[in-house]
Amino acid sequence: MKYEVILPAAGSGKRMGAGENKLFLKLNGIPILIHTLNVFQEDQDCSGIWLAAKPEEQDDIRSLLDEYGITKVKSIETGGDERQHSVQACVKVVEGTDIVLVHDAARPFIHKEVISRLADEADRSGAAVAGVRAKDTMKLVEDGVIQETVNRENLWIIQTPQAFKSSVLKEAEERAEADGFLGTDEAMLVERLGHPVTIVESTYDNIKMTTVDDLIFGEAIIKSRQE
Ligand code: C5P
Repeated sequence: MKYEVILPAAGSGKRMGAGENKLFLKLNGIPILIHTLNVFQEDQDCSGIWLAAKPEEQDDIRSLLDEYGITKVKSIETGGDERQHSVQACVKVVEGTDIVLVHDAARPFIHKEVISRLADEADRSGAAVAGVRAKDTMKLVEDGVIQETVNRENLWIIQTPQAFKSSVLKEAEERAEADGFLGTDEAMLVERLGHPVTIVESTYDNIKMTTVDDLIFGEAIIKSRQE
């Protein structure tokens, strides 16, 4: 199933504490952003990449695209203060296929096979997100005290990519913008429309590079895939 992908890359990476956009940090000698872009550059089903980036970082990103031979980027939009606003900037202009994926530029280890299942499921049902089952015991805590042990059977940890029919994503983003609603992912905006969102089982190594520990995990994942 052919798709276009939106990659928000306009974060500041405060939790990484690197003093620069974490996407420029290198894993195995290559910037995290390029690792993520390479997944889509190499996927035959991906017909275009739409990036959101900070204005002051766009020239550096363009240089990296040239250096690493990334040719599928159709546009670099200006990112916003919140991730949702960065995605929104791209949703307004994305075109080309009926299926649109949104994927954090900070998740470089997504498997092609999961992407493919997400695109197929979005085509069938309109909205699908990558997720994994919660492995640990889950508890609801308030003021440092456990209130309840939550039934893990029904709990999923949600990742990106999140895949949508273009019309569904556009309507969800327009409605959120009109209502001033801020969600933590695109699925939340679609859920507000009353539209079902299907889970596609992903892998635990589809980590988001967030804190310094993740750089160690990231190097280990790359090494294990080279073996
Ligand atoms: O901060 P976090 O890693 O959760 O952000 C997820 C993704 O969203 C990252 O790829 C980041 O660059 C992007 N982002 C964005 N605009 C923001 C905040 C985050 O594009 N204002």
